[in-house]
Amino acid sequence: MNAEQLVKQAWQARKSAYAPYSGFRVGASVLTQNGQVFLGCNVEVASYGGTICAERVAINSAVAAGALNPGELMAVAVAADTDEPTAPCGICRQTIEEFANESTLIYMTRDGEHVSLQVKHRELLPFSFNRRQFRP
Ligand code: THU
Repeated sequence: MNAEQLVKQAWQARKSAYAPYSGFRVGASVLTQNGQVFLGCNVEVASYGGTICAERVAINSAVAAGALNPGELMAVAVAADTDEPTAPCGICRQTIEEFANESTLIYMTRDGEHVSLQVKHRELLPFSFNRRQFRP
């Protein structure tokens, strides 16, 4: 599974987005250590705070399948139809941190074909609060 394949999957997942309130459709895909891919899309609710982002849906899906443990998240792809690449929000960065390792990568795509930006998760969330602070 290379970066282009992963962003294509995220773009595919974006088609399932349920975003009647914002109209902003997002797809995500995550790659686990053993090569499995899980997909997510944003799911909005009328009580807006209940909305969940595509990235967390994908991560939670991997966890629910018993396929993702801390340190095993290799990459996250985020797909949105925007001028600038869409980066994971702060809450999603914290969730990514829970399962990330020092080399976890974030890929962003604006067309589902190309990686428009690639960045290390640890660059997006330096000095994070994480479980090692209280469970060394
Ligand atoms: N959203 C995502 O799904 N992922 C992001 O990285 C940014 C924001 C969603 C949440 C909400 O449904 C909509 O985009 C507007 O914020």
